[in-house]
Amino acid sequence: MSAFKALKTKIESASAVVGVVGLGYVGLPLAHTLHRGGLPVLGFDVDEKKVAMLARGENYLKHLGAEVTTDLSESDRFEATTDFTRLGEADVVIVCVPTPLGRHQEPDLSYVLVTADMIGRTLRAGQLVVLESTTYPGTTRDDFLPAMRAAATHAPHLKPGEDFFVAFSPEREDPGRKSHSTQTIPKLVGGIDDASTELATLVYRRGVDQVVPVSTAEVAEAAKLLENIFRAVNIALVNEMKLVLTEMGVDVWEVVRAASTKPFGYMPFFPGPGLGGHCIPIDPFYLTWKAREVGKPTRFIELAGEINTQMPHYVIERMTRAMNDRGRAVKGAKVLVLGLAYKPDVDDTRESPSFELIELLRRRGAQVEYSDPLVPVSYPVRKHDLQMTSVDLTPENIRRFDAVLVSTNHSAFDYGALAEHARLVIDTRDALRPFEGLMGDRLVRA
Ligand SMILES: NC(=O)c1ccc[n+]([C@@H]2O[C@H](COP(=O)([O-])OP(=O)(O)OC[C@H]3O[C@@H](n4cnc5c(N)ncnc54)[C@H](O)[C@@H]3O)[C@@H](O)[C@H]2O)c1
Repeated sequence: MSAFKALKTKIESASAVVGVVGLGYVGLPLAHTLHRGGLPVLGFDVDEKKVAMLARGENYLKHLGAEVTTDLSESDRFEATTDFTRLGEADVVIVCVPTPLGRHQEPDLSYVLVTADMIGRTLRAGQLVVLESTTYPGTTRDDFLPAMRAAATHAPHLKPGEDFFVAFSPEREDPGRKSHSTQTIPKLVGGIDDASTELATLVYRRGVDQVVPVSTAEVAEAAKLLENIFRAVNIALVNEMKLVLTEMGVDVWEVVRAASTKPFGYMPFFPGPGLGGHCIPIDPFYLTWKAREVGKPTRFIELAGEINTQMPHYVIERMTRAMNDRGRAVKGAKVLVLGLAYKPDVDDTRESPSFELIELLRRRGAQVEYSDPLVPVSYPVRKHDLQMTSVDLTPENIRRFDAVLVSTNHSAFDYGALAEHARLVIDTRDALRPFEGLMGDRLVRA
């Protein structure tokens, strides 16, 4: 039997073992979804703490809910390990490791390439390897596959598309979004050849409701970047509208809601304090970098990046003005920043604009504290290490501060108490709208 047929039969009979490499925001829900689809799953991570917590059924990603880790830990079809020599046990290996930016905004493929090397060392006939980490078009075929083959010194005869199979399938996870899950978000799949596309499509169909095959890995890679660039550009557009409309005395949030009543040709994006998360501030620059190779500029992406990175500065400028108008200086003021996570109801602080806001306020001489029930202690991120601890949002605490800056609108915050007790609120998320009557000029949107 050919390697293709053998693997197809295993997938169809739910006996194909799936190895998920990288059990973070993307890999963990994916492992759970494919496990629920009936497949045996072997999870791999370099982080011993995560592997140990999974064995004990302890949840380290709160937004997923406790059942994800308990389902897995109680199952005899799931195991997590740090032992990468076991990659050969997996019939299908799915790679969900980080793809951050380097110091000069260049793609950092080191995690992907280290993983390709590990997979290559135990590569065998009948394996399918799928890359999920967001990256530029061409990575799977031109970077990932060669790295895997270079490491497969024990099996130089193995041919891609005949003996083993390689595909790309972008992750569209949106942590904290309740309306969709890994199972219900349609999944794109593009192989380096038709056989790889077909096998990868079959695997995902075991757990995902709708799988959409595309003609190549490059199409799948580029589609993911287009989705995220679309968001980055539209967020920049509405942030620019905020700057302009605020100067004109027009309420941008009301304008966006008004425009949203159009049933076609418009999609709402809301302004905020800047971009955050592991995707939108980072992924567009993967394309920018690759575009240089073909000598094409990515002007939209760079302009959006410029506008979005200016937003924390704008917010602090507006806050400074608001305090000045009330006869107060930022220097020496006690300021409480609400929300350290980059978006509501998640504990993820990667690239969060709150860090930038806190640093800018400190640089102006403010005494800054933060409150975030989901992030009780700040931990180091790419550019910042604040070493701070969250304060509770009690009426007594609110009254201690000269100003409160709403950076992230978690639903757990008591906005009523904030509206009643705060001396001044700078609201970047339009979270205090229901209390604007009560607050009067103690509320400033920024
Ligand atoms: N977080 C999101 O919402 C999201 C959405 C879509 C796509 N993505 C993309 O998915 C990929 C993963 O992102 P994430 O948010 O899950 O990251 P993450 O940091 O939450 O998880 C990555 C995991 O990989 C592990 N890891 C690091 N190096 C490893 C190695 N060499 N071998 C095995 N495990 C290793 C880490 O310990 C961590 O558990 C990235 O390319 C990202 O751009 C993320």
